[in-house]
Amino acid sequence: MHTESSSPKNAALVFGGSRGIGAAVARRLAREGHAVALTYVSRPDKAADVVAAIQAEGGRALAIQADSADAGAIASAVGQTADAFGPLHVAVVNAGLYRGSPLDEFPLETLDKMLAVNVRGVFLAIQAAAARMQDGGRIVTIGSNAAVRGGIVGSSVYAMTKSAVATLVRELALDLAPRRITINNVQPGPIETDITADLLDMLAARSPMKRVGRPEEVAALVAYLAGDEAGYMTGASLTLDGGWVV
Ligand SMILES: NC(=O)c1ccc[n+]([C@@H]2O[C@H](COP(=O)([O-])OP(=O)(O)OC[C@H]3O[C@@H](n4cnc5c(N)ncnc54)[C@H](OP(=O)(O)O)[C@@H]3O)[C@@H](O)[C@H]2O)c1
Repeated sequence: MHTESSSPKNAALVFGGSRGIGAAVARRLAREGHAVALTYVSRPDKAADVVAAIQAEGGRALAIQADSADAGAIASAVGQTADAFGPLHVAVVNAGLYRGSPLDEFPLETLDKMLAVNVRGVFLAIQAAAARMQDGGRIVTIGSNAAVRGGIVGSSVYAMTKSAVATLVRELALDLAPRRITINNVQPGPIETDITADLLDMLAARSPMKRVGRPEEVAALVAYLAGDEAGYMTGASLTLDGGWVV
């Protein structure tokens, strides 16, 4: 555990770090020695729990309310992180939402909200983070294996947003390469979080491994991509789903 490091590689920001995958990523990055800022939108209690857990292990953490649908809030979150912990070395763009609906009933506001957070918010977070990131930094997005193959009726818009993320990451790798900033996209299959809480039995039954994944399993891959050894990998989408899309 590195608790007092003022290393320029120290600062990490997790967009959507209060619950589920993002919370596991925040805790894992703290264990890797990063000072971790995490954003949330609706659950300050959960964000505070993550900060307290990191601090209890001797790490440094900061919770920031910032709706990923709000460009100003995203820029402010990046600024607050840099002010507190120094220039960013790692940004994990995890905030996202799932809403499913049959085509003929799909509400326009749901479409707009998913595009705003899952696509527009991802671009804005990458843009803002890159502007305050040191050369040689790391950006990781959380997409979904639905970008490869969904197969769940009503999930078309969600799958579309995650395909957009994979394409964005692939192409932005070229923009960021001259600064040795890597950007990669982790594509989980079903993971046990609030998003899947009501579907766990069905999802496990459909899985080749007959189980869903754990947030910590996603966090482990993020930690690798955020680490020194992953400096030659960029633009990649890595699927982590127990064989769901095979
Ligand atoms: N769980 C899965 O099976 C699965 C599979 C593949 C991909 N994913 C992706 O993984 C990511 C995390 O999913 P999860 O299952 O961990 O979800 P979750 O348990 O619902 O947690 C979502 C997190 O994102 C935050 N968030 C949501 N909307 C936000 C917004 N507009 N602005 C800022 N933060 C926002 C939430 O903050 P609050 O706590 O404040 O609400 C929370 O910290 C998503 O992008 C999701 O699409 C999940």
